[in-house]
Amino acid sequence: MSLVRVAKDASALMRLAAEEVAERAETAVAERGRFFLALAGGATPKRLYLLLADPRGPYFTRVPWDKTDIFFGDERHVHPDDPESNYGMARAALLSRVPVRPEHVHRIRAEDTNADAVAADYERELRRTFGSKPGELPRFDLVLLGLGQDGHTASLFPGSDALDATEKLVLAPYVERLRTHRITLALPVLNAARAVVFLVSGAEKAEKVAEVLEGAGSALPAARIKPSGGELTWLLDAPAAALLGGAGARPPA
Ligand code: 6PG
Repeated sequence: MSLVRVAKDASALMRLAAEEVAERAETAVAERGRFFLALAGGATPKRLYLLLADPRGPYFTRVPWDKTDIFFGDERHVHPDDPESNYGMARAALLSRVPVRPEHVHRIRAEDTNADAVAADYERELRRTFGSKPGELPRFDLVLLGLGQDGHTASLFPGSDALDATEKLVLAPYVERLRTHRITLALPVLNAARAVVFLVSGAEKAEKVAEVLEGAGSALPAARIKPSGGELTWLLDAPAAALLGGAGARPPA
């Protein structure tokens, strides 16, 4: 069962998301002493990261940055200084602005031209940080995800073999449409999280939001996100929620 919350506009949506991050961080540190967070890439979350990092805002002091480990749900196969880099975006909007420990920022080293080696390296980093033994899944406290207009999430694209991977934690699928490799956490890792939050803004996402949330048996990658022992929350602005029918339609938060 997923919780759907609709904000009246993108600004309200980012405040909802920042509140979610702060609450999950406070709970994780209170219960276990650390907060393991996987950031989403793309353009949408940049405003969230800037809001979290605003020293005059209510979230900067609420998140225990010194007890936070930051990972990435996926990465483009580019150098961190490339404008396409998800790490580069997060570094500019968040990581360079908050007191997270450098050794707790776990970057996907996507500058290596061998994408499979990048994925294997990141899988080792995941296992080392979480102390995961073979067969065990690292369990994030919070995974932030976006939704592509084709229904992809992280770098799990429609029709990709990566959707059926069960052994590996990190994959390096070749994405035909983009004519490039991507590096992505595998579905089992995403679904092992204590909480997964989709952050979706804009009318161009409305059709896929409705298909994932209300379409019977959607095969879209985003519809495969079903955290078995965790909570799934969709945070939408009104344009992204516009095609949700009856039960799905909710007053703007
Ligand atoms: C990426 C993301 C991807 C993203 C969606 C939505 O690397 O691009 O991880 O899954 O979340 O494509 O992207 P926008 O927020 O730019 O619409």
